[in-house]
Amino acid sequence: QRPGLLPTPPMGFNDWSRFECAINQSVFTETADAMVSKGLLTAGYNRINIDDCWMADARTEEGKLTWNETLFPNGLPWLGEYLQDRGFHFGIYEDAGNETCGGYPGSYGYEEVDAHTFASWGIDYLKVDGCHVTPSTEDEYHKRYAAWHKAFSKMSDPLIFSQSAPAYFSLWLTGSDNLTDWFTVMDWVPYNGELARHSSDILVYVGVEGLSGWESVMQNYNYNTQVARYQVPGYFNDPDFLIADNPELSLDEKRSQFALWASFSAPLIISAWIPSLPDEVVSYLKNSDLIEIDQDPLAQQATLVSRDDSFDVLTRSLANGDRVVTVLNRGNSTDDISISALRLGLLNTKRTYSAKNLWTGEFIRFQGSLEIRGLASHATAVFRINLSGPSSFGVSPTGMIFNA
Ligand code: GLA
Repeated sequence: QRPGLLPTPPMGFNDWSRFECAINQSVFTETADAMVSKGLLTAGYNRINIDDCWMADARTEEGKLTWNETLFPNGLPWLGEYLQDRGFHFGIYEDAGNETCGGYPGSYGYEEVDAHTFASWGIDYLKVDGCHVTPSTEDEYHKRYAAWHKAFSKMSDPLIFSQSAPAYFSLWLTGSDNLTDWFTVMDWVPYNGELARHSSDILVYVGVEGLSGWESVMQNYNYNTQVARYQVPGYFNDPDFLIADNPELSLDEKRSQFALWASFSAPLIISAWIPSLPDEVVSYLKNSDLIEIDQDPLAQQATLVSRDDSFDVLTRSLANGDRVVTVLNRGNSTDDISISALRLGLLNTKRTYSAKNLWTGEFIRFQGSLEIRGLASHATAVFRINLSGPSSFGVSPTGMIFNA
């Protein structure tokens, strides 16, 4: 990654999971207007990204990409200006193969030309998908994505580079849970770009894997827990979109996805019809305590410290020394859990710790163990433990306690 290009994870909108190919200019202008009026832009969601199916069927005679004029009658540079005038960054989609997943012109062999075309349209963020890459070996993927890295490296203003290569070596597309190639790809993506999709499309292709909405969220969550060590400020693991208006998810499940993604410092890219989002959804998406965690400059990804039949417990540190505890009830009924301070990396069992419940805003105090009562099925609790006081103990990024 190019340090400084994307110090904290991106936040914004992408159309794919909600609209697939049924896009047009007004989907994006109306989304931008609604993100302003609903306060989502102010909350930090400042990117609008177009996914697949925006292109004309073929390149121009000069070999350049161009948009579908029926869908985007005013053109993409016009749309870029519309978005920038309202305070958004503009992002787009291409593919490392001969065609995109939707069958539009791919970028293989055109990386440099396309990078400049996008920049000339006011675009500063590019998702490069991995359909139609042949042969589909990890070596070939490495070459194709390195070509994009090289094209960006020559630019004075490189685009943010969102890679999809690891996803093509996950269970989703290989049908195998032998993850050797997957990890080999994960080994290079953090050096090559600013983020990487490593797993399935949430909800799309549900038929293939037979997963419901929540199970698909959980599958990507599980993949994400395996790659925490790769994440640093400037490179982010991408478990895919926040499906904030998907009818298959309960409100608790949607809030959980948001809380887990924020605990991971994952990209917070909403794929939903923003103009119709109900207040209860807009309100959790704007939770400033959780957004602050997502955007923490340390960019540390929460990792699992325990998993039992019902509960996953994850922890991470924040730049100011505070510790985050995230507790997901994977079980099917409301339940209680008691978590020892030791398990949270808090080695001073005699100390009274103070913590903020990031859903309710309430402060609690605990000693020896953190007690969570009545956590609903598929709900997630998040606490921020205050360790940043002048005479307190700090916690290192690995969870080891030290005397501050
Ligand atoms: C793949 C990607 C999706 C989306 C579609 C577009 O499935 O994983 O996020 O970009 O292609 O065709």
